[in-house]
Amino acid sequence: MTVVSVEQALAGKIPAGGEVTVRGWVRTVRGTAGLAFIHVTDGSCFAPIQVVANDSLANFDEVKRLTTSCAVIATGTLVASQGKGQSFEIQASAVEVVGWVEDPLTYPIQPKPMTPEFLREVAHLRPRTNLFGAVTRIRDCLAKAAHRYFHENGFYWISTPIVTTSDAEGAGQMFRVSTLDMANLPRDEKGDIDFSRDFFGKETFLTVSGQLNVEAYALSLSKVYTFGPTFRAENSNTTRHLAEFWMIEPEIAFADLAEDARVAEEFLKYMFRAVLAERGDDMAFIAERVQKDAITRLESFVNAPFERIEYTDAIKLLQKADRKFDFPVEWGLDLQTEHERWLTEEHVGRPVVVTNYPEHIKAFYMRLNDDGKTVAAMDVLAPGIGEIIGGSQREERLDMLDARMAQFGLDPAHYGWYRDFRRYGTVPHAGFGLGFERLVVYVCGLSNIRDAIPYPRAPGHAEF
Ligand code: 4AD
Repeated sequence: MTVVSVEQALAGKIPAGGEVTVRGWVRTVRGTAGLAFIHVTDGSCFAPIQVVANDSLANFDEVKRLTTSCAVIATGTLVASQGKGQSFEIQASAVEVVGWVEDPLTYPIQPKPMTPEFLREVAHLRPRTNLFGAVTRIRDCLAKAAHRYFHENGFYWISTPIVTTSDAEGAGQMFRVSTLDMANLPRDEKGDIDFSRDFFGKETFLTVSGQLNVEAYALSLSKVYTFGPTFRAENSNTTRHLAEFWMIEPEIAFADLAEDARVAEEFLKYMFRAVLAERGDDMAFIAERVQKDAITRLESFVNAPFERIEYTDAIKLLQKADRKFDFPVEWGLDLQTEHERWLTEEHVGRPVVVTNYPEHIKAFYMRLNDDGKTVAAMDVLAPGIGEIIGGSQREERLDMLDARMAQFGLDPAHYGWYRDFRRYGTVPHAGFGLGFERLVVYVCGLSNIRDAIPYPRAPGHAEF
């Protein structure tokens, strides 16, 4: 007896006629008089394998009572299947029921369409649905491809801290971990310092970005990246924002904005190619049930160069657009989602890199251009979602960085270590941040970012 995954069994890698065992959960069961057709999935691929059981099994009565999500171990002979769309099936010699579903009628996951809103309320059970199984495997494929891209291109993976004292974006959107009040340290009933409430003895927060920390490593290891959770306490009750999301942030020494944009484009295309090559089964389901053109648009994304537009030109285009926007379009104002979507969906029809934004709407660390009005920033906009990447060339000149911090009202004492890179061997460098869930939303054609992460954190939502 060989234990195999459903994926291995369906690929027929095991000699047909051989005996195999699969372990998983029932997706559906159909039956006729002396036969039961059980579709079993173990998450290893999109398709389930059909297990055919007949009344020669000692526990056939039990097998007939199986319902969706019961856990089973099925052993039998792997044979080529006569069924439509199935490569191999198992003619069972034994079906062991490992776990019953206690009340199939009230079990939340039913083999029928369920709304995303309902499924978010049962986030711990939704990976059992076809959609969340597919999204989970695609997310995994994208993450592994990201690491592979960096590995193949000489980047080192740096683990940056989650608890920090620095506001990397200077935007005041940090979740507080501990406070500064040394005189009144919290004490428990015995009078001892309660470290669970004030461990660090200073104000600490959850990080909004690993960028500042990873810059330090770029300035010694040249090409580096972080890939970790980041947190933003913005009131982000939208379909594009999470309070906790994962960000991939490469940082490259001796790079300017053009090189930054080149890497961003190459990196995205690498990941899309991986999904097309490795997750054809899940993407076919997405194309059938979620977004008709899910595969063709990824293919076109991979095959066409991204458009590059300067912010100033983007404003002119938007002002001339044959379309009324809800938010004003004016040089100096940030682009809103409706503007980003018009640019990428209606004007260009493919991804766009917008560069050189007005300095006062972008973060303090971005490099001031010679015009004194714009910074070397870039956003990569994708059709259907808008901004998925934000990046920039960093301000490597200490006097300019100090001036920018003063302009944003940031205390240089808090950023002493960050200023050090500009004091000791400073070089031009650049990087970007890719919002990982926005990438998943784009690839899977999802309409809400809360479905792109296993356990979404958003205002009022921290269950499970
Ligand atoms: O543009 P942002 O704020 O850039 C940074 O944090 C830089 N430090 C990155 C860098 O240069 N290393 O965020 C980068 C990306 C956005 O383009 C977006 O995709 C995603 O992070 N993002 C969010 N995703 C989900 N929920 C949120 N609340 C997000 N905020 C930003």
